[in-house]
Amino acid sequence: MKKLTYLFFAATLIVACSSGSGEKSQTEESSMSSRDEIRLKQYQVQGAKVYATYCANCHQQDGKGLASLYPPLAESDYLLEDMARAACIVKNGQSKEIVVNGVTYNQMMPGNPITNLEIAEVLTFIGNAWGNEAGLIGVKDVDKWISECGEGY
Ligand code: HEC
Repeated sequence: MKKLTYLFFAATLIVACSSGSGEKSQTEESSMSSRDEIRLKQYQVQGAKVYATYCANCHQQDGKGLASLYPPLAESDYLLEDMARAACIVKNGQSKEIVVNGVTYNQMMPGNPITNLEIAEVLTFIGNAWGNEAGLIGVKDVDKWISECGEGY
């Protein structure tokens, strides 16, 4: 009789443990997505600092740009259309005629001495500020884009 009780106890334990590990994999899944959410917030915070240091002088604190000199980043169709191109512009600068939200700009933007991580952060910041909704721009994507920047930036 005693043995049976032990057996029953052991069986209950096994069931409890296995259902426990089932729950664990569920929390792992949800912490994956919350990890991305945390990264999004981190990149936005860090990116805001990069923006203030390297970009706001020209594109302005509100991202609206300045007259016909500096194009806007806020709701910029040009920016949101191609983040790979944006990464290359941030890294290498650009000077050619472009059209942003229907307005033609032809000025010189200098390149920036910043890391790919800082580029990912600043793109995540500008991609999710002032009405933009581009989500997280990951550093692995930026690594790939930067290695593939063509001529003409
Ligand atoms: C010295 C002024 C200056 C600084 C500093 C500068 N930009 Fe620019 N930026 C420009 C100009 C001018 C253009 C347009 C270039 C052209 O005519 O091809 C431009 C174009 C862009 C574009 C593409 C056009 C658009 O509006 O979507 C993006 C994206 C951009 N800049 C992001 C940045 C980011 C991010 C930083 C900071 C890391 C930065 N820029 C720093 C002047 C600047």
